[in-house]
Amino acid sequence: MNNKSKINRNAPCWCGSQKKYKQCHFEFDETLKSLSLQGYPIPNRSLIKTKEDLAGIKKSCQLTKQILDDLNAIIKPGITTNEIDQWVYETTIKHNAIPAPLNYKGFPKSICTSINEVVCHGIPEDRVLIEGDILNVDVTCIINGYYGDSCRMYPIGKISDKASHLINITKECLEESIKNLKPFDPINKIGDTISEIAARESYSVVKIFGGHGTGKKFHEDPFIFHYKKKEKLMICAPGMVFTIEPMINEGNADCIILEDNWTAVTKDNSLSAQWEHTVYVNENSIEILT
Ligand code: MF3
Ligand code: CO
Ligand code: CO
Repeated sequence: MNNKSKINRNAPCWCGSQKKYKQCHFEFDETLKSLSLQGYPIPNRSLIKTKEDLAGIKKSCQLTKQILDDLNAIIKPGITTNEIDQWVYETTIKHNAIPAPLNYKGFPKSICTSINEVVCHGIPEDRVLIEGDILNVDVTCIINGYYGDSCRMYPIGKISDKASHLINITKECLEESIKNLKPFDPINKIGDTISEIAARESYSVVKIFGGHGTGKKFHEDPFIFHYKKKEKLMICAPGMVFTIEPMINEGNADCIILEDNWTAVTKDNSLSAQWEHTVYVNENSIEILT
């Protein structure tokens, strides 16, 4: 159904709630209509999750979060990224879930492991983690067809002050962009917040990757820009679920994709960090699901 179809105020709402339209999404549609007149793209109704969708997404996000929590005790100097991948694979399967990356567009492993200058989409391998490395692990679980996507940074043993600062600032970028965002804001706000914090620290924001809507698909609309965009971007309306996943480089924002067609590294070999949450836009606030 598109957003233009008129519904009688007493008819059942288009969202499937069984409530009357006037007691459900009538005001929502009026608000979006006026924002649309101001030039903002508004979400298609297919991006507004049902109660059942939300419950399903929450469940897979919970498992993703649990796995990322448990990795704190597993990741240490001496372990290989293949061993971490194997542990996540077994744990995911044990919970009757599926690791989304495995065979996704040909990706060969269950998680992405991105070390030091690797920006994202690093492939687990037999490289041993050593003291001073910084590692990103990106986990996405699927339960009953619903996706839960999140990533965190793991310092390997004692790391340098500058690596630790990059990790902390990148986390601040993610957390502040969530705090500053309200329902019915344009998603421009996310990139505005992130680029201001990164600029303050003389870091750069990676542009070639972004966050994404998610739910029954790994990646759906909208594309979430992590940097400032002049054009008006989509309104974040209650019912939407998307990820925010800033990648921040110590040096230049430019990236190179390696021969494996996945691993993205910084062009200048500087360090890169990333944190990711899946969030839900509820009536009054932005809820972190992971
Ligand atoms: N989890 C990543 C994201 O945040 C996507 C990884 S795709 C893969 O969107 F194939 F590399 F796993
Ligand atoms: Co993601
Ligand atoms: Co991810």
